[in-house]
Amino acid sequence: KRRIGMMTSGGDSPGMNGAIRAVVRTAIDAGCEVYCIYEGYEGLVKGKDFIRKFEWPFVRGWLSEGGTLIGTARCMEFYERPGRLLGAKNMVLNGIDALIICGGDGSLTGADKFRAEWPGLLEELVQTGELTAEQTKPFKHLNIVGLVGSIDNDMSGTDATIGCYSALGRICEMVDYIEATASSHSRAFVIEVMGRHCGWLALMAGVATGADFVFIPEKPRAENWKEEMCGLIAEHRKFGKRKTIVIVAEGAHDQDGGKITCEMIKDLLADKKGLALDTRITTLGHVQRGGTACAYDRMIATLQGVEAVKAVLDATPDTPTPFIAINENKITRKPLVQAVIDTKEVAKAIEARDFKKAMGLRDTEFID
Ligand code: F6P
Repeated sequence: KRRIGMMTSGGDSPGMNGAIRAVVRTAIDAGCEVYCIYEGYEGLVKGKDFIRKFEWPFVRGWLSEGGTLIGTARCMEFYERPGRLLGAKNMVLNGIDALIICGGDGSLTGADKFRAEWPGLLEELVQTGELTAEQTKPFKHLNIVGLVGSIDNDMSGTDATIGCYSALGRICEMVDYIEATASSHSRAFVIEVMGRHCGWLALMAGVATGADFVFIPEKPRAENWKEEMCGLIAEHRKFGKRKTIVIVAEGAHDQDGGKITCEMIKDLLADKKGLALDTRITTLGHVQRGGTACAYDRMIATLQGVEAVKAVLDATPDTPTPFIAINENKITRKPLVQAVIDTKEVAKAIEARDFKKAMGLRDTEFID
């Protein structure tokens, strides 16, 4: 029987359990055995109890569970060749020749590297006497399939990553809560949201809550952003608005690359010579990442998990490593390497202050 390994890696995201459930059950249904690798790459490196065979009922009820029930870690050991050698050895010892990995772009890049190195890793394991040639013979090729699990929605090539809509929903819910108290006291709130280098969460939360002002990394505000923001908020207040909401992506900065902090914005809004607004800061933090998955994330996690197993079964030695995407409501297979390159391009463009390019790559031109 074919043995497929399943793991979650990097930061957890809501919907990862739905993806595991779909992979486990689709693989079993297709006549394969499925092994979950606990704690991401750390479990692959450590082997033994970290690699466990899963049966159909093991994942019962997992769709409604937040986080990842098989654990995740950011494993430094796997970044080094000795760590990857141990990973390869544990795969052979467990008879696993295909891996489905649910994680962010970093985790998936690591996976593709592992695949590229695979024959060399096996040769080295034989040369050093860790494994025999006989043991490695049936494992000529390694199949990898990526599922993108991240709240940041920062992967190029897919409209949504597993978890991003749950996090967005959570942010909106929190902003609604804040709005009630903000209105009561006629206060301003500066709300920091996650997203690393990506402004998707902040931007969409701004749209969905009707925030007064939003800061994102892909589109730093013009040089006169202070006047622009204060002018706009003053206008909103003149219309009779009793609350002010400013959403700040954690990666936001000005056009010169200086970080825009919540404190900076708070000081501006509170300035006695200016708007003089009673202002508070709320950093939403990990409430955005924890908790149960919304219906959309459960749905894509399931459909993409099914597709990931199909991609494993369809793979030939020449198939480039795919990741499972969603594009215009269709579940698709895309080459992983290209998506990783494009994702890195965005980060590079932001770093090089080429915001036009970054915005284009992020499909956020419409915010102008
Ligand atoms: O990538 C997901 C994410 O939640 C980012 O939005 C955030 O910058 C980061 O992970 C936080 O990481 P940690 O949980 O390790 O502090």
